[in-house]
Amino acid sequence: MKNLCVNLKKQVDLSYPIIIKQGILNNIEEYLEDRKYFLITNDKVAKIYGDFISKFVDDYTIIIKDGEKHKNIKTIQYILDKLLDNKIERKDYIVAFGGGVVGDMAGFCASSVLRGVDFIQIPTTLLSQVDSSVGGKTGFNNKHGKNLIGAFYQPKKVLIDPDVLKTLSHNDFQCGMGEVIKYAFIEKSCGAKEFFNLFELFENINPNEIQNKIEQIIYACVSLKAAVVEQDEKESGLRAILNLGHTYAHAIEKISNYKTLHGQAVAAGIKMALKTSLLRGIINENYYNYGINLIDKFELAPKLKKLNPDKIIEIMKSDKKVKNSKINLILPRTAAQAALFDDTDELLIKDSLI
Ligand SMILES: NC(=O)c1ccc[n+]([C@@H]2O[C@H](COP(=O)([O-])OP(=O)(O)OC[C@H]3O[C@@H](n4cnc5c(N)ncnc54)[C@H](O)[C@@H]3O)[C@@H](O)[C@H]2O)c1
Ligand SMILES: [Zn+2]
Repeated sequence: MKNLCVNLKKQVDLSYPIIIKQGILNNIEEYLEDRKYFLITNDKVAKIYGDFISKFVDDYTIIIKDGEKHKNIKTIQYILDKLLDNKIERKDYIVAFGGGVVGDMAGFCASSVLRGVDFIQIPTTLLSQVDSSVGGKTGFNNKHGKNLIGAFYQPKKVLIDPDVLKTLSHNDFQCGMGEVIKYAFIEKSCGAKEFFNLFELFENINPNEIQNKIEQIIYACVSLKAAVVEQDEKESGLRAILNLGHTYAHAIEKISNYKTLHGQAVAAGIKMALKTSLLRGIINENYYNYGINLIDKFELAPKLKKLNPDKIIEIMKSDKKVKNSKINLILPRTAAQAALFDDTDELLIKDSLI
């Protein structure tokens, strides 16, 4: 079993454990205190994990529709009504059981119902295990964009059972890997106490055997994310490092009308960030080729239709993170390090769309 802890500065009562262990689901009683639990999941996950869900009281199980398109105020309203219909009290717990979509919405409802009820994350996708379940960002989408409404609200506990990844589709697994590979490129910038040498790990691993090392990989990624969140909970500085590849990714997702999945767009975005770094002379050709080959080895970035450079720049400029119309990019620097740059020439960004 691997145990970690997020220790938020000046907020000792908000520190929480992250337990990574195969088989947690089978022995869930060991991890939950004697409280009333409201479990939130979606119809797809509920079908696969009916046995697990049946351990919770029926009335307190809230099943929402699967998919990013349901990450909206209507679903939030539905969850809040169900919680209140069933008389949730402040001392009860909300459990988010699903991928990032369920986790973000369950977390938001926990932050707001009765002005805050404790919640536990049991993430069931690779992306949610290595990224969204840790760090306290919760929220939902509206017509103005993704995740524009939300709250920072930390869970009380994160329970990660890598066994659940066995039922994940290949595409969803690959999406998670897009975020996983990101950690290799930023590892030394995260300020974690341990050095995992993710580059070496990925160099030596056969893509078909990744499941054998998945617990070790999740542990490394979560440690890095926890280290970043501890230093910068609300993204006023260092936390932006986690956005490597994301400025490109958001534009790629939007231009494809969200047909290109997030993790795939991130992998493509990291390749583009490598190209930008190369063109700016921040990294050398060796590191550039190394990075591209690593992403290609795991087949993480899909072949994209030719991107319209003007449109990409336009979308990048409309990003909520743009300040003074400058495009902020996290760019790879030296091996396993990245940093924020706000002074990249637009022409150079256009030349990086590979
Ligand atoms: N809060 C954060 O810090 C943060 C970070 C990154 C992403 N996100 C958010 O996370 C969401 C994406 O998360 P995601 O990739 O997990 O998507 P998702 O929640 O839509 O899950 C992907 C698919 O896998 C299914 N699924 C979940 N667990 C399964 C399992 N064990 N077996 C089989 N199928 C399973 C889901 O039903 C869904 O169809 C986005 O909405 C994004 O905005 C949030
Ligand atoms: Zn992401």
